Amino acid sequence: MEKLKVSGLSERICKDGGSAWGVLVEARKRARAGQDVLILSIGEDASATTPSHIVQAGVASMNDGRHHYSSVAGEPAMREAIARHHTRMTGQVAGPENVCTFAGAQNGIFSAGLCLFESGDEVIIVEPYYSTYPATFTAGGANMVVVTARPENNFEPDADEIAAAVTPKTRAIVLNTPNNPTGSVYSEALIKRIVELSRTHGFWIISDEVYADFVFDGEHVSPARFCDVEEQCVVVSSLSKSHRMSGWRTGWAVASAPLTDVFEELNLSMTYGLPPFIQDAAVAAIDGPQDDCREMVLGYGERAKLLVKALDDIPGISTVAPRAGMYVMVDTSRVAENAEAFAWALMDQHNVSILPCTAFGSNVDHFLRMSLCASMDDLYRACEAIKLTASTFTPA
Ligand SMILES: Cc1ncc(COP(=O)(O)O)c(C=O)c1O
Repeated sequence: MEKLKVSGLSERICKDGGSAWGVLVEARKRARAGQDVLILSIGEDASATTPSHIVQAGVASMNDGRHHYSSVAGEPAMREAIARHHTRMTGQVAGPENVCTFAGAQNGIFSAGLCLFESGDEVIIVEPYYSTYPATFTAGGANMVVVTARPENNFEPDADEIAAAVTPKTRAIVLNTPNNPTGSVYSEALIKRIVELSRTHGFWIISDEVYADFVFDGEHVSPARFCDVEEQCVVVSSLSKSHRMSGWRTGWAVASAPLTDVFEELNLSMTYGLPPFIQDAAVAAIDGPQDDCREMVLGYGERAKLLVKALDDIPGISTVAPRAGMYVMVDTSRVAENAEAFAWALMDQHNVSILPCTAFGSNVDHFLRMSLCASMDDLYRACEAIKLTASTFTPA
């Protein structure tokens, strides 16, 4: 059959993210077939639900008839709540005129790239990166310029290497701190230097901060702390992780008022706004009690500490301890040629699914990303499987 003719944009977003996700696909297939599979390859605990006061706010809103078209950039109460939340999280003063809602942070970062980049622009991306970034930021024809963050520096990129990557074509840098997959939290000095570089060279900062609430060692520093909201910095975030609301698709971008107006125009022709009852639930999440979320993050920190210790005790295996987020990076380079082979062996021999990091960039293809979204018993069970699998590999 003749190959479907699609646009250049479609071809760029259909680039294969690698075979890494095959392990997860296989795990889900086995689980559907009734097998007992331990899935530690995604950042979500399917059994942990959205806090009940948020669900109740959404249900009450639906019962109140809040299920019609809404404002395209977001309901006034939602934009105000996000502006308050943003100021609390970043220290930057912003108002509702700086907020545009999106269907999750993913929709927000895609929109930022689409609205800011021309074909041929360069966008600096730190590797390892969240797996959707290549398609997201090159969709409009921009080229990715990769700066590597190394495990020996706790996956924090080097400021001089970022400066060296800047060219007259640089249109933006994408930051993701706290970082997925590495759990690194960028220092204030690094963030300040990047803000200076962006001012000197006139490029944008797109800051993906979906894990801002997930810091258990250190402090989240947003570039927005050092800029005025009308400068060239866009902060994208959501409630997907912080309030276990991934399926509600509640995200946003905070940016200068003129860029926010452009986002609104894009929304007009893209989603026509988020459902009002979902926005009401989101306002309840932002303004309501936060104890549940705080407890959740403490739990991640505790499990990360115990898991790192257990993994580091396994012969041939080591970790780079996360300071935030939902994952631990597991280095398999001393036992296996690459992490994909190791992940498939884990799957085949023990029905344990852990993601090989090939989808996050080539400098981490000997790492696995192990999710902390499970009980400690399950995480120890996975460690036992890793230990047995490691013993079956010939040291590399
Ligand atoms: C770094 C990063 N950015 C963006 C997203 C997408 O978030 P959302 O569910 O709000 O679209 C994720 C989800 O895992 C992520 O890890």
